[in-house]
Amino acid sequence: MKQDMILIIDLGSEENTILAREIRQMGVYTEIHPHDLTEEQINHLPNVKGIIINGGKNRIVDGKEINISDAIASYNVPKLAIDCDGKPALPSNETEKKDIIQKFVFDECKCLKNWSVENFIADQVELLKQQIGDKKVLLALSGGVDSSVVAALLIKAIGKQLVCVHVNHGLLRKGEPEEVVRVFGQEMDANLVYVDAVDRFLDKLAGVNDPEQKRKIIGSEFIRVFEEEARKQEDIVFLAQGTIYPDIIESGTKTVKAVKSHHNVGGLPEDLKFELVEPLKMLFKDEVRACGKALGLPDNMVYRQPFPGPGLGVRCLGAITRERLEIVRESDAILREEFAKNGLEGKVWQYFTAVPDFKSVGVRDNIRTYEYPVIIRAVNTVDAMTATIEHLDWAVLDKVVNRITAEVKGVNRVLYDMTPKPVATIEWE
Ligand code: XMP
Repeated sequence: MKQDMILIIDLGSEENTILAREIRQMGVYTEIHPHDLTEEQINHLPNVKGIIINGGKNRIVDGKEINISDAIASYNVPKLAIDCDGKPALPSNETEKKDIIQKFVFDECKCLKNWSVENFIADQVELLKQQIGDKKVLLALSGGVDSSVVAALLIKAIGKQLVCVHVNHGLLRKGEPEEVVRVFGQEMDANLVYVDAVDRFLDKLAGVNDPEQKRKIIGSEFIRVFEEEARKQEDIVFLAQGTIYPDIIESGTKTVKAVKSHHNVGGLPEDLKFELVEPLKMLFKDEVRACGKALGLPDNMVYRQPFPGPGLGVRCLGAITRERLEIVRESDAILREEFAKNGLEGKVWQYFTAVPDFKSVGVRDNIRTYEYPVIIRAVNTVDAMTATIEHLDWAVLDKVVNRITAEVKGVNRVLYDMTPKPVATIEWE
């Protein structure tokens, strides 16, 4: 291991994550661990140079005050106790706070500033080689940021021992399946299984109106297709997942209950139990992106806006038809192109189009038309719990409206959704 580590022990602080981010920004690697680490667990952690015991409001668990284990107390490195057993909380003044942490990390613990994406990659490649040996690993590669970075990292570590399965369910954005094939199948020369499951998904979804039912079908059909591919492969021992640090933190800790359960490829049958490989599980999203960039993934993959698991399926409103799915895909591609041209890519948090399942009257070349509307959505948010709309320039909107009505067959009207969340949600379904 190339990196020194500061261990943050969660003794009920609400700011473990903020502290971890701050120390990593100083160039030192940190991990957050529970208060009851055993001797074996703590000895297993590499290069621990110091321990911060981070106390706080959540220290009372099930009516009892928790304390650090003997293994932590007797571990022989400098320790800094915050907000516990008479120790003061960190000052709210940012400069003072940073000063205290910096003195501890660099003067007392003598940490080197050696946390970098390059070192992380080098360490992970070694660890993955050790963990995996000559065995095979399976990965569901959607082409989203996290699964793409996992794929790139594993390709670097074990090459063709990684089997990537890309399921094209017909609900991806324009050009995405092609890009997965180009980047991973061709440029990185990965062992890529491309599954064309478009008809299968669309047949299952035919006539289904209810959004939650649509989500369930897409989720369970995905697992079924993936399972079939897994069974065709021989000698797979590991399953790689793009779990990242916020997924782990939001799944709950010993002092805070779960915000949400994290779901990657859960739900595989019992006889397909693989050992998990989760090389990004200690990284924050920006670190995952930096890692992807360092591994040579293209910018549009690494800096991609969030895209829901059910994909365009929840943007083709009501019962999905191939005709309206094409309208969503084509209009979304135009919107993305115009946003990129106007410097809005990376500035607006999420933007897309949706197509309702009703028509309205229009007129084209003096002839009455009866066609679908397209809805534009462009929002900004920090955590997706609330969102405000982007105040788009009229000129950009005009251009998008003109292009969509001219280039996308079957559309005679374009609407701009100006509703914040709440009262609306970001997606229409
Ligand atoms: P809403 O519509 O709830 O969306 O305001 C908040 C964020 O979550 C995304 N989203 C989903 N992501 N599966 C996902 O993986 C889903 O079923 C799903 N529904 C919404 C949405 O794109 C937005 O970023």
